[in-house]
Amino acid sequence: MTVPGRSTGRIILFPLPLQGHVSPMLQLAQLLRSRGFAVTVVHSTFNPPNPSNYPDLEFHSIPCGFHDSEIASADLILRMNLLITRCEGPFTTFLEESLRNGPLTCLVTDSWYIFAQEVANKLGVTRLVLRTGSATSLSLFADFPLLFEKGYYPIQGSRLEEEIIEFPPLKVKDLPAIGSQGLDEIPVMVGGMVSNSRNSSGVIINTFDDIESESLSKLREQLRIPVFPIGPFHKCFPASSSSLLTADGGCISWLDGKPPQSVIYISFGSIAAVTDEQIQEIALGLASSNCFFLWVIREGGSGWLDQLPAEFLPVLEQRGKIVNWAPQQEVLVHPAVGAFWTHNGWNSTLESLCEGVPMICMPFFTDQTVNARYVTNVWKVGVHLENKIERGNIEMAIKQLFKDHEGKQMRDRVTELKEKAASCLQQGGSSHESLNELVDYFSSLNH
Ligand code: UDX
Repeated sequence: MTVPGRSTGRIILFPLPLQGHVSPMLQLAQLLRSRGFAVTVVHSTFNPPNPSNYPDLEFHSIPCGFHDSEIASADLILRMNLLITRCEGPFTTFLEESLRNGPLTCLVTDSWYIFAQEVANKLGVTRLVLRTGSATSLSLFADFPLLFEKGYYPIQGSRLEEEIIEFPPLKVKDLPAIGSQGLDEIPVMVGGMVSNSRNSSGVIINTFDDIESESLSKLREQLRIPVFPIGPFHKCFPASSSSLLTADGGCISWLDGKPPQSVIYISFGSIAAVTDEQIQEIALGLASSNCFFLWVIREGGSGWLDQLPAEFLPVLEQRGKIVNWAPQQEVLVHPAVGAFWTHNGWNSTLESLCEGVPMICMPFFTDQTVNARYVTNVWKVGVHLENKIERGNIEMAIKQLFKDHEGKQMRDRVTELKEKAASCLQQGGSSHESLNELVDYFSSLNH
């Protein structure tokens, strides 16, 4: 007998080995397992997940295809290229062997594996794509040729404040760019990602209707394949099991001793690099804010201590805590946390929305600028640090969020979104329904 919303069959998932991509793929793996599928996660030897956190899933490791020294010296674009291209051979060999062991319902890969559709076609496998970023940024990527045609790219300094008519309220300065370089590379990588997504059998997105309904409609028109918005994934499972770094749990007991909504949590994700000058300005802005703060400085070791201004050290002692890596989802759930100063990686943005925590936005690159614009101008649940990262601006942004009427309104709006995020996962909710459709779709592939 078939149970509605459940199925059998075998699904292989293949995440890109970066924190912001591994976490949602492992959460998707658990979701599919909970609906009855046997799930195998194929992962690279670079940044491997910890299988012991997932007794119900099967794991298979393949060689990453590069040496540690190659990736350590690579810039962001080259690093992405290494991660994306070098595993093609080992992955294809794995898939061929796996097909000899029995039928496969479907393959789901990260959207950036631009070789995967060709491999799937060659081996007669149905492939779906997991988009770990927002629907809006994918829709923007899909319109890259149009943005070039209309002259928004290459980005011109004189047009930064101009609104992009085709994507309001995004401005020219929000268009994805990676540092000062990469304009030649980005369209090639993005073009490959979009066309491989378009040629797949469907796109699964870690988002929900209430926050991105317009972008989802536009994306469906652009791609013309099924789109399944079934997020927010992380709300379905216990926090942090997918962390690639060891989190400092001591910050939770530190938070326990703080009054409700009194702490600002600061973290810029797993990739973005903060300059020494920015660290100094952040420290001095925090010093004059009078808030408690929990600050993730990823580089760790004792190096960061040397970069902090001497006058900040007593402030740190009295009001702050610095850690190398935090259990972020637990931190954001904590009642003492009143704001999240973030780089607006999509996972961090979603996690903040889902816990009803307003944001200070400091995007660095790619989709982060798009996410930040949505936080401040569409959902209106955050303050954008658009100008220079400078102590005065920082102090003002913190004050706006914690003390001003505007901050109170943002807090009310993000609380509403938190409720919507919870209800979309309940029976009858948009993500719940979309997941049912995805399960039905997979079931149809078994016949
Ligand atoms: C990368 C890209 O930079 C981003 O633009 C894209 O949207 C996703 O991939 P990343 O820097 O990893 O993002 O940020 P994000 O997407 O926010 O993911 C970071 C994850 O690490 C989050 O799930 C967060 O909870 C977790 N995290 C972060 C921790 O567990 N502890 C920390 O201290 C910091």
